[in-house]
Amino acid sequence: MKILTRHFDNPKLHELETYRALGGYQGLAKARGMAPQAVQEEVKKSNLRGLGGAGFPVGMKWSTVPPPEKAPERFVVANFDESEPGCFKDRVLGTRAPHQILEGLLIACHAVSARWGFVFIRGEYADQYDILKKAVAEAEAAGLCGDVKVRLMRGAGAYICGLDTALLETMEGKKAWPRQPPPFPTVVGLMGKPTVVNNVETLSMLPHILVNGGQWFADIGAKGDPARRIHPSGGTAVYSVSGDVERPGIYEFAMGTPLRQIIEAAGGVRGGRALKAVIPGGTSTPPLAASEIDVPMDFDSLRGVGSFLGAGGIVVLDETRDMVEVSHNIERFLAHESCGQCTPCREGSEWTTRILERVLEGGGVEPDLANLRRVGENIAGKVICALGDTVGMVVRGYMKKFPEDFAKRLPAKPAEAAR
Ligand SMILES: Cc1cc2nc3c(=O)[nH]c(=O)nc-3n(C[C@H](O)[C@H](O)[C@H](O)COP(=O)(O)O)c2cc1C
Repeated sequence: MKILTRHFDNPKLHELETYRALGGYQGLAKARGMAPQAVQEEVKKSNLRGLGGAGFPVGMKWSTVPPPEKAPERFVVANFDESEPGCFKDRVLGTRAPHQILEGLLIACHAVSARWGFVFIRGEYADQYDILKKAVAEAEAAGLCGDVKVRLMRGAGAYICGLDTALLETMEGKKAWPRQPPPFPTVVGLMGKPTVVNNVETLSMLPHILVNGGQWFADIGAKGDPARRIHPSGGTAVYSVSGDVERPGIYEFAMGTPLRQIIEAAGGVRGGRALKAVIPGGTSTPPLAASEIDVPMDFDSLRGVGSFLGAGGIVVLDETRDMVEVSHNIERFLAHESCGQCTPCREGSEWTTRILERVLEGGGVEPDLANLRRVGENIAGKVICALGDTVGMVVRGYMKKFPEDFAKRLPAKPAEAAR
């Protein structure tokens, strides 16, 4: 089932004329014929959840924006920062279908009565910036933006800028230090005004929901199971599949599709090797063991196996991979990207990296595993943003699912690693 990538074999999809000939901007026209509240209701019905990582229901987020009488100026920001290792779907969406993003942004602006739409784009995505800039110029010349001013802003290469509140700080010209909510950005956001931040893939879904209806979108996705606290997730997701697979790339599947099916679509494990682990949602999400890949890919089912759908960055790891090496690589990244605002994250991520480095180099000592766990516990819940929580959660995930990789490098008991 393809929604966003359906016309990706058309080499001219990025041009306005082609996009319109394929039905583009009909969703926006339909939205503009509806009251903003009615657009919000349609999106609620669709069960669309944010695809930037947290999976928050989109219609619900929008409905927390105060009414225009209370706060006349409000903003929508398209989050195109995409810095999570293992994720590249936003880059492809921006390259191939910039008007789909723009149309979604304009629909979101209508839904919350915003007159300013921003796209915050990762600094390294220079080509995509040019492509989007051209798309905005085309849309403006065709009168499609109406009374909405669309502006692009480029990031400067920090992972933390993808976090909504840090993104807003950097847009204001300040150091990208996350804010401590509440208040949430929908109430106090950019320049203190209500601001909706949505991922570019999330926004790209909106034209299709408007054209085909919220129910159509909900029916495509995962239905949910209240008894198991699995909430529905509408539509599809575009996965970035990389690592030890035959055909890395982006793959779109209905929400709830088993992970196994996605890996098979990417040609399976490279070179006929056995599967060892899969990172399901980008490197901030704990790994799954090979025995767990029948899990349905939706936000709540993944929580059931101790991980997250995240931003759909599936990294396949074959039998030759050493999980101490993998977790060290991720912890080193997090230590480098920690913004430094919260001491437990700034210091703790350095410690997990150093301990893993020592273990890798053969100098590990018995209490290392317990210390890794303790450092993680001392960060989680004591920091402002989820980057810090990730530091302890990720290394613990690897220790729990692959205790033998840690045990063989240490004089520790495997049972200790598995706790
Ligand atoms: C450390 C960190 C980095 C993040 N990076 C991104 C990012 O690059 N792109 C993105 O859309 N969301 C990112 N997020 C999630 C955003 O804070 C926010 O939840 C998202 O943009 C909301 O959009 P959505 O509801 O459409 O997913 C990040 C979160 C964290 C904790």
